[in-house]
Amino acid sequence: MIRFLINQDIVEIDEARADLTLLQYIREYRKNTGTKEGCAAGDCGACTVVLVEPSNDASTSLHYRTVNSCITLMSAVHGKQLLLVEHLSSGDTLHPVQQALVDHHGSQCGFCTPGFIMSMFALYHTNSKPNRDDVLNALSGNLCRCTGYRPIIDATLKVCEQQANDQFSQREAETLTRLTALKADNLGTTNIIMPTTRESLKSAISQNPSAQLVAGSTDLSLQFTQQLKNISTLISLSHIESLKQCTTTERSLLIGAALPINDVAPLLLRHFPQAAELITRFASLPIRNQATIGGNVANASPIGDMPPLLLALQALLHIDNGENIRTVPINTFFEGYRKTKLAYGEWISAIEIPLLEDRQQVAAYKISKRFEDDISAVCAVFKLTLEEGKIVTVTSGFGGVAATPVQCNELQNALAGKQFSSHETMSIGKQILFDAFTPIDDVRASAQYRKTVLANLWHRFWLENQTQNNIETRVVQHA
Ligand code: FES
Ligand code: FES
Repeated sequence: MIRFLINQDIVEIDEARADLTLLQYIREYRKNTGTKEGCAAGDCGACTVVLVEPSNDASTSLHYRTVNSCITLMSAVHGKQLLLVEHLSSGDTLHPVQQALVDHHGSQCGFCTPGFIMSMFALYHTNSKPNRDDVLNALSGNLCRCTGYRPIIDATLKVCEQQANDQFSQREAETLTRLTALKADNLGTTNIIMPTTRESLKSAISQNPSAQLVAGSTDLSLQFTQQLKNISTLISLSHIESLKQCTTTERSLLIGAALPINDVAPLLLRHFPQAAELITRFASLPIRNQATIGGNVANASPIGDMPPLLLALQALLHIDNGENIRTVPINTFFEGYRKTKLAYGEWISAIEIPLLEDRQQVAAYKISKRFEDDISAVCAVFKLTLEEGKIVTVTSGFGGVAATPVQCNELQNALAGKQFSSHETMSIGKQILFDAFTPIDDVRASAQYRKTVLANLWHRFWLENQTQNNIETRVVQHA
């Protein structure tokens, strides 16, 4: 059974297609057509809805998060409250975020408007003093092609000046009680299997050998919505608590593989603030609310943003089969296009990342056509270990330049022992990176562009980390 709230009504689903998306359920089964379908790929935000769940943060009882319903599967709504644009107004009285959009003339054709409203609504409930960057982050998954963003941003800033005080805030205690009562003993359906322990996951896999494992579903769902494939049975990893724990030791972080990127982001940014460009520009807010760090590694996409970071940081993957956990260095994990070392019956349970030493520095660069909600044409991460100005090691991770996420061993071999500040270090590194890979031409970038950019990113890294004669050289950050 999948049990959740739609607004305040309890809904129970005993059977559903494994590949049924939340958007299909909302529009085709519930006939709530306020939620729109634009791209069906997580790229436009027309389908944005809000999922509410009990909060882990002591300052608030409920957590409101936006998701793209077009790439959300039904397993993701179990135990949560689903709020749609139809739920916001009270009779003829618009919700404050709706009224603000009207007052600021933030809608023309209106197709994007329900999605924007839901993103504004989630921010209204999570941040009572957002600045412009917070608003841009909240709206990062929503496209508007005719109004323009300025009035929408103004409306969002204005409405969030006040502490949230709407029908949902007033009913939070009641909602929390209802959410707590949603627990079900027989979790899942015949086709949507939702184990809660590693043991039950192991037995679910052995009983359903052709079932597909799924966590955030932001990549897998594209097979249903874009390639029109069907999947008969899914096993969701999202309800196994042990896959959602984080541990910090003196030497490393151990991050549960089923944690959404947004839940991991504060911890990653605390320890690796230099990686902000990758972490905060990973897709869009609604996608980061769902996509997991383990999923981004396991799907082995050559253009995923987390693998290059984890490669440069020399992460270890914890791979479980329900009986034993083995560790695999991530630089040996990718075997070919979308092929990994995961054997049948195994899953990634956690990702272990060594913490930085004082003598190490990191930089991460994402080159894409748009600042947010876009795939990298090239992504590069460098981790440098220096001793008295000399390179001890330089580890790296790259996306968009090969059939898998890759590192460049030649860079390490050629530069070890060299003075980092020398021009030779810069020019040798550039040449090595220009020659290292044979990327493809595609709609995002030509092969020549990718090779040139990769070499230039080393140049940029070299410039940004010069501290000669106490004069620090910085390159102006560009989007
Ligand atoms: Fe475009 Fe869902 S329909 S993001
Ligand atoms: Fe037309 Fe936004 S109002 S796309």
